[in-house]
Amino acid sequence: MKLKVGVVGATGMVGEEFLRLIEERNFPIAELRLFASDKSIGQNRAVADRVWTVQGLTANAFDGLDLVFFSSGDEISKEWAPKAVAAGAFAIDNSAAFRLTEGVPLVVPEVNGHDLPAKEWPSIVANPNCSTIQLVVALKPLSERFGIRQVRVATYQAVSGAGRAAQQELTHQTRKILQQTETPQAVPSPEAFEGLEKPENFPHTIAFNCIPQVGGFGDDGFCSEERKIRLETRKILNLPHLHISAWTIRIPALNAHSEAAWVTLDKAVDRKEILDSLTSQPGLKVSQEGYPHALMASGTDPVYVGRIHQDPDDPKTWLMWIVADNLRKGAALNGIQIAERIFLERSH
Ligand SMILES: NC(=O)c1ccc[n+]([C@@H]2O[C@H](COP(=O)([O-])OP(=O)(O)OC[C@H]3O[C@@H](n4cnc5c(N)ncnc54)[C@H](OP(=O)(O)O)[C@@H]3O)[C@@H](O)[C@H]2O)c1
Repeated sequence: MKLKVGVVGATGMVGEEFLRLIEERNFPIAELRLFASDKSIGQNRAVADRVWTVQGLTANAFDGLDLVFFSSGDEISKEWAPKAVAAGAFAIDNSAAFRLTEGVPLVVPEVNGHDLPAKEWPSIVANPNCSTIQLVVALKPLSERFGIRQVRVATYQAVSGAGRAAQQELTHQTRKILQQTETPQAVPSPEAFEGLEKPENFPHTIAFNCIPQVGGFGDDGFCSEERKIRLETRKILNLPHLHISAWTIRIPALNAHSEAAWVTLDKAVDRKEILDSLTSQPGLKVSQEGYPHALMASGTDPVYVGRIHQDPDDPKTWLMWIVADNLRKGAALNGIQIAERIFLERSH
């Protein structure tokens, strides 16, 4: 079966990862329609031995397509994903627009693939937030086997999670600061930061910094990324009353998100049982020696978990370090896996 596929946001960080994965995984393409903003119309992308030209979104843009991947932000998805479905296509949406909408499945295939609709029923399927995806892949086997009472998590998120302009902002600031610093190895002095342009993609200079804010703050003191992790995790694991709270921190890593998690189980279990459970989870690689980190995870498919150890004051609580490539498993790869599950793996 070959599919007619649209990619909205094809020139962005997630969109380009979609194109790479289509080739890498030999995703069966009969036609590829690439969409981006006006400034990219007419650009070409070579995928699967053919060259495809980027176009703008127009009234009949999705006619005849089986499937459209969306990665252009909430507003574009809100307007155009329902139009893709009306044209008879599945809309697999990377934005936050529909994730918490009742009736819209929010899916990580190896965690809750059973929530996906049959291929005869084109609809919107939401791709979870990148930080949520890697967390639930590690939580799923623990929840299934032992029950989870509480999750506390702190994320250390790379700049690629905020898009291409954000990644460029980090490299630009870093270069500029190092040029102005007499000895490149020295800790940059406050003067080294003078003359930097006002940050556009983060609330503060991201180079050489660590910013405890991803998204806007609510009245409850949480920022939007922290709320997403809480609510999306509950929906995906079907644990509406799970006690879960998050800190989300932006760090000057280029790619791949890291998370420190404290997971409290319903019962006390030993280390072997924890490791057996985590090792059985598809898509999850358990490091028993050493630990995973962002640089090694970047450009790869799995979610990694390591530094798994017990809280000495609470034997039911286990600490772990979870790392994944936010552009791959956190976005495009998860989207492609959703499509593979709907169209290629299941028979209905
Ligand atoms: N980055 C991640 O790790 C990650 C993870 C999960 C989810 N997401 C979500 O995925 C989406 C895209 O993220 P990204 O990191 O790829 O951002 P990005 O690098 O900034 O790319 C944005 C894409 O949207 C396109 N676009 C902008 N305005 C448009 C318009 N009016 N019509 C059609 N296309 C338009 C851009 O086209 P031009 O190149 O022409 O401007 C570009 O292709 C966001 O919703 C984000 O929240 C991102």
